[in-house]
Amino acid sequence: MPRIALFDSGIGGLSVLQGIKQHIAHADIVYFADHQFSPYGDKDPTWLNAHIISLVSALDYNHALDAIIIACNTASTLCLDQLRACINTPIIGVVPAVKTAASFTKKRAIGVLATPTTVISDYLQSLITRFAHDCHVTKVSSTELVFMAEQKLNKQTIDQKRLANIIEPFVHAECDYVVLGCTHFPHLKKELNALVPQIHWIDSTHAIAKRCIDVLPKVQPPMDCAIDCDAIFYSSAQIKQGLHKTLKELGFTEINSATQFV
Ligand code: DGL
Repeated sequence: MPRIALFDSGIGGLSVLQGIKQHIAHADIVYFADHQFSPYGDKDPTWLNAHIISLVSALDYNHALDAIIIACNTASTLCLDQLRACINTPIIGVVPAVKTAASFTKKRAIGVLATPTTVISDYLQSLITRFAHDCHVTKVSSTELVFMAEQKLNKQTIDQKRLANIIEPFVHAECDYVVLGCTHFPHLKKELNALVPQIHWIDSTHAIAKRCIDVLPKVQPPMDCAIDCDAIFYSSAQIKQGLHKTLKELGFTEINSATQFV
């Protein structure tokens, strides 16, 4: 049975895991949430780069992994090439779905909602130049939305008015497709759809799952962790009771918090 690791600053990668479960049968999951240093999107890129490389290297060293998913746009845009250069296990990154948005938009007006680090990254700019050069692209960066997604999975209520304010530039620019360029944000899709149903909020979840199938030999659809898979969750900080409950509901069989071991 393949063993797949997912890495993120927090619960963002759980949105990626949902997509993987729909495509892959019987994989053991090792999930690492770096809550101690979350959010990543406002950290110094040089520090963050070294920090992520040391954590992912430890993750790779301590588990017999068949694939590592960097289930975080901020980390992927920052250090994917370096991770691939120093780790032999196949590494799958998350790419903001700019190409998809540009191919579907009828209004030639798309949006990107991501963390500050991703929004100013050369990587995002190169995607826009390559695939969306004929579109008007509205970029919005938000760290607050990362906290809102964490709150939701902690079973707390989120401030709908605040959410509406954050996404207002997309409504103003009359975007018909907005890329959720942070893996935390698909957790808020229900709220986003309710607030602005005329916008298609798109993410890379299924593209990552498909990439995983290409990388892993002999996987079978669909996965049901409840049957015979291990799903282990690690967080570098203490997690709250609400998140613990959510993780149980998602099928995690072991939950380790405030751990230095990955
Ligand atoms: N989920 C992450 C991403 O996709 C990180 C968010 C953050 O920690 O700022 O960018």
